[in-house]
Amino acid sequence: NWTPAQIIEDQINRVREQVGDRHVLLGLSGGVDSSVVAALLHKAIGDQLTCVFVDNGLLRKDEGDQVMETFASHMGVRVIRVDAEDQFLGKLQGVADPEEKRKIIGNTFIDVFDAEAAKIEGVDFLAQGTIYPDVIESAAAKTGKAHVIKSHHNVGGLPETMKLQLVEPLRELFKDEVRKLGVELGLPYDMVYRHPFPGPGLGVRILGEVKKEYADILREADAIFIEELHNADWYHKTSQAFAVFLPVKSVGVVGDGRRYEWVIALRAVETIDFMTARWAHLPYELLEKVSNRIINELSGVSRVTYDVSSKPPATIEWE
Ligand code: XMP
Repeated sequence: NWTPAQIIEDQINRVREQVGDRHVLLGLSGGVDSSVVAALLHKAIGDQLTCVFVDNGLLRKDEGDQVMETFASHMGVRVIRVDAEDQFLGKLQGVADPEEKRKIIGNTFIDVFDAEAAKIEGVDFLAQGTIYPDVIESAAAKTGKAHVIKSHHNVGGLPETMKLQLVEPLRELFKDEVRKLGVELGLPYDMVYRHPFPGPGLGVRILGEVKKEYADILREADAIFIEELHNADWYHKTSQAFAVFLPVKSVGVVGDGRRYEWVIALRAVETIDFMTARWAHLPYELLEKVSNRIINELSGVSRVTYDVSSKPPATIEWE
């Protein structure tokens, strides 16, 4: 039974032994796993680590700034931020199919990341936030045991194209252990215990074609929902909660006029393993507050709905 501090020390030694005085590249997403790898490697090898953070334009409100603040400003990690919103949204133009969108977002990520990596000289290793369940899952996928319902793009893909040796210090750890390491390494609690966020981001929370206008509205609605969940002490009672943009217009009455505006759906679930999930029985007062705020504060939204579907058959994401 190892303590987080012992695991960190052990991994620091292993990384130093593997890497020596050479250089490591890490794709930092802001998620728990890559964040913990960044903090760990920074502690182990300092400036021999370079992180690339790709802003795909499909992140949550202020997410890019928060990642830069935590890692670059506070910790002194070398992070290159790539603003690739135009590239992602351009590639997604006219595409409505969810799996097609996932593929485009995944492939564009690899293109952008590769292009950025090519500019950095003398990189010998690629670090990844692979954790034990990912190892199991991809082993199952290779033997055909996994029933792949949605293509999750955040594991694999890069090593083949980049021909770098891998550094994967979390390979033997479960999520709760990774979180404890994160806290021990001094990462902010809110970052370490944040709900999971899919690789394709808001790209699969905007139903159908993705547009910047939709993403901007959705980011604000989602931020209001999350803020009120925190205020009501419900955030950590749910496993995942978010807003979804429905590209349909519904009637609203404002003053003397009728307006046709967009619809936002709220989704909050409780689950242990994300394979099955129950919709969270949020208090009506909380839903009322979130709904009022979204409709009053965001122009362009006339209606808010709450998703009361369980998984199965409804998946957690709407796409
Ligand atoms: P579903 O919607 O399949 O989601 O019930 C189960 C969990 O997986 C996340 N999810 C994804 N994560 N890439 C990811 O990295 C994806 O394409 C993707 N699709 C779903 C979802 O947020 C939930 O936590």
